[in-house]
Formats: sequence, C-alpha cells, structure tokens
Amino acid sequence: MNKAKVLVTGGAGFIGGNFVQYMIKKYPNYDIYNLDKLTYAGDLSKHSEILEEHNYFFVNKDITDTESINNLFDNEKFDYVVHFAAESHVDRSILEPDVFIKTNILGTHVLLEASKKYNVKKFMHISTDEVYGELDFDPNTFFTETSPIMPNSPYSSSKASSDLLVRAYYETFGLPVNITRCSNNYGPYHFPEKLIPQTISKALKNERIPVYGKGENIRDWLHVSDHCTAIDLVLHKGEDGSVYNIGGHNEKTNLEVVQTILKVLGKSEELIEFVSDRLGHDKRYAIDPTKIESLGWKPVYDFDTGIIQTIQWYLENEEWWRQILNGEYQENFKQLYNLE
Ligand code: NAD
Ligand code: DAU
Repeated sequence: MNKAKVLVTGGAGFIGGNFVQYMIKKYPNYDIYNLDKLTYAGDLSKHSEILEEHNYFFVNKDITDTESINNLFDNEKFDYVVHFAAESHVDRSILEPDVFIKTNILGTHVLLEASKKYNVKKFMHISTDEVYGELDFDPNTFFTETSPIMPNSPYSSSKASSDLLVRAYYETFGLPVNITRCSNNYGPYHFPEKLIPQTISKALKNERIPVYGKGENIRDWLHVSDHCTAIDLVLHKGEDGSVYNIGGHNEKTNLEVVQTILKVLGKSEELIEFVSDRLGHDKRYAIDPTKIESLGWKPVYDFDTGIIQTIQWYLENEEWWRQILNGEYQENFKQLYNLE
C-alpha cells in the first residue's frame, strides 16, 4: 500500500466523520486531513479516540475561502480529495437557502479549482440521490446513473449544481473525478435533526415525534459504514469521470421507520404526531446499485440489523446526542482545540 495524502472535507460531520475514522484505521500509510469549518453540524468530540493517531490531522477552514484553501493545497500537495462538506438538511434549505448556494456550489468550485491547479489525482464528490428528484410509488422504478437530474429542493438543486461543475472539470480540464450519489444514510453520529436520530432521541425523552404528512413518503436507507466502503472502493477503483449510485435496497415509509424504532425501544405509538407536510416533499427515493455492485461492493447491513445496531449506539452514547441537543458541544470542543 503506497503512501498518500487525503483531504477529507466535512470530516467533522456525520458521514465524513465516519469516513475519517474508517480511513485512519484501514490505511495507516495514508495521511488523513480532516478539513471542516465546524458549522452547527460539525462536531470534533467524535474524534477524541483518533486525535493521537500519527496519520490524523485537523484543519479548521471554510471551503468557500479561496485564498486559504489555495494556501493549504500549495503547502500539502494532496493526492486525493474526498469532498463531503456541505449544508445537508433539506428543511433548513427551505428556511434559509442562501448558505446552501454558497457552501454547496461556490465551496465545491473553490475545491475544484485548487484540485486542478495542484494536480490532485482524484476528486471524489459525495453527492446524493436527491439530485434525481423523486420517484412515484411504483416499486419497479429506480434511480440509475442515467436518470435525469431533476432536483426539487434548494438543497438538492445546490447539490445538483455542484455535480454539474464536477462533471465540467472532468470534461473540460481532464481533472480525474468521480461522483457518488447515495441514498439516505443512518448510523452512529447522525445529527439529531434528521428523521432517525431525532425519533430515537425524542422517544427516549418521551417527546412527541413529528411525522410529515401521513408518513407515506419512502426513503432507501443505507448504513453509514456501508457508504464508507463504497466510497473507498470508488476512490481506488472508480473509472475517471464516472458516476456511481450507492444504495442497498432498503426502502421504508417514514411511518414504518418510526414504528420500528418505537417497537425496538418499547415505546407507545401514541408519541407519533402527524404534522404539516414538508414543502416540495419528494415522494420516494430508490437506488439501482448495479453499477457499484459490478465493482465488487456489497453492503453488510440490511435495515433490520442496521437499525438495531444504531439504536443500541444511541443508547450507549446518550451523552453525545444530549450535548448536541443542549448546544454544549460547540463550546466544549472549541476549548479542547483552542479554536476562536
Ligand atoms: P453533515 O451536515 O452531518 O456534515 C456536514 C459537515 O460539513 C459538517 O461537519 C460541517 O461543519 C461541514 N461544513 C459545512 N459547511 C462547510 C464549509 N463552508 N467549509 C467547511 N466545512 C463545512 O452532513 P452529512 O449528512 O454527513 O453529509 C455529508 C455529505 O454527504 C453531504 O455532501 C451530503 O450532501 C452527502 N449525502 C448525505 C446523505 C445523508 O443521508 N446524510 C446521503 C447522501 C449524500
Ligand atoms: O437521500 C439522501 C438525503 O437524505 C441526503 O442527501 C440529505 O443530506 C439527508 O438529510 C437525507 O435527506 P432527507 O430529507 O430524506 O432526510 P430527513 O432525515 O430530513 O428526512 C427523512 C424523511 O423523513 C423525509 O421524507 C422527511 C421525513 N421527516 C423528517 C423529519 C426531520 C419527517 O417525517 N419528520 C421529521 O421531523
């Protein structure tokens, strides 16, 4: 295994954080740089166990800051960039779209320019199945890599815009890129504003659990550790310029997800509160993973085993999500890392 310098953006977030830990353990010869602005969604406490690892480095930067990003690339000469950093929550994009445009589109452009200028060997863009818009409830229809890009929310349209920029840097400048489009992730360190961790934490606190509309919308759930193995595979084996959809055929209605969690926790379904629907709420997402499977990828978890593992993790790590809900974690890790 050769040495390599890998820049992971958004490595203090949910998926980027899991990926950083996965890479540190799997590739001791790789230097892993976690670049993160530490927005409300960034949390470094999750990395306390890898802080002393010889191959882990943290960089507190904003991907939209061109000068600072260029300086970093000039100093470090990265081999690979794995780009997770983004504003990721659909509901927030409906309330305040501006930061989604800035971070997800402009930030990606800043990184593409730096990657081109400093001859990065691979730019991995972590995108989402939401760029394809929505499917109807016909269970035989799936998103493939050639499905039209038809995003419906400010979040998904900002991600789609960034995907198009990544494509352009391959087509125009020959920058070696891959785009991955994954379905909904769940697992350890999922930020408790999202459906699954919110349901677990509210159920444990015996609070009402909001379900949008009638809970009929369908998402295709993938355990975050399976997403990490897929990204690793594409990083090393992906064909330059290619898009890979990632998903494990785990479609569930939102109501089924909430009912499953309540059952496992032994809580009453009376906690469920049906509330107004999300604006522009996509009906159904479902991935056809044939292309990534042909590279040799196979998920370890199905939803039934993954959700039990995840609930267990939230039970064992109550301090982590309670701190986040109390807003204490920002202050704690700022002190820990001597950040402004
Ligand atoms: P997250 O919101 O948990 O984490 C995002 C991270 O990016 C945070 O640590 C945040 O501090 C950082 N960040 C935000 N703006 C930044 C900036 N300007 N500069 C530097 N860092 C910044 O997100 P997530 O759920 O882990 O998603 C990661 C990526 O994966 C996103 O690009 C998202 O679109 C994509 N994705 C997410 C899912 C999912 O189910 N969560 C599924 C498919 C794809
Ligand atoms: O499909 C991949 C996407 O999955 C990622 O690109 C996004 O970054 C990620 O946030 C996720 O988007 P969703 O909007 O699907 O995830 P969320 O957890 O917000 O919602 C899941 C479903 O649950 C969705 O249909 C809306 C519904 N929901 C959500 C919340 C927060 C509720 O019914 N009640 C809620 O309180």
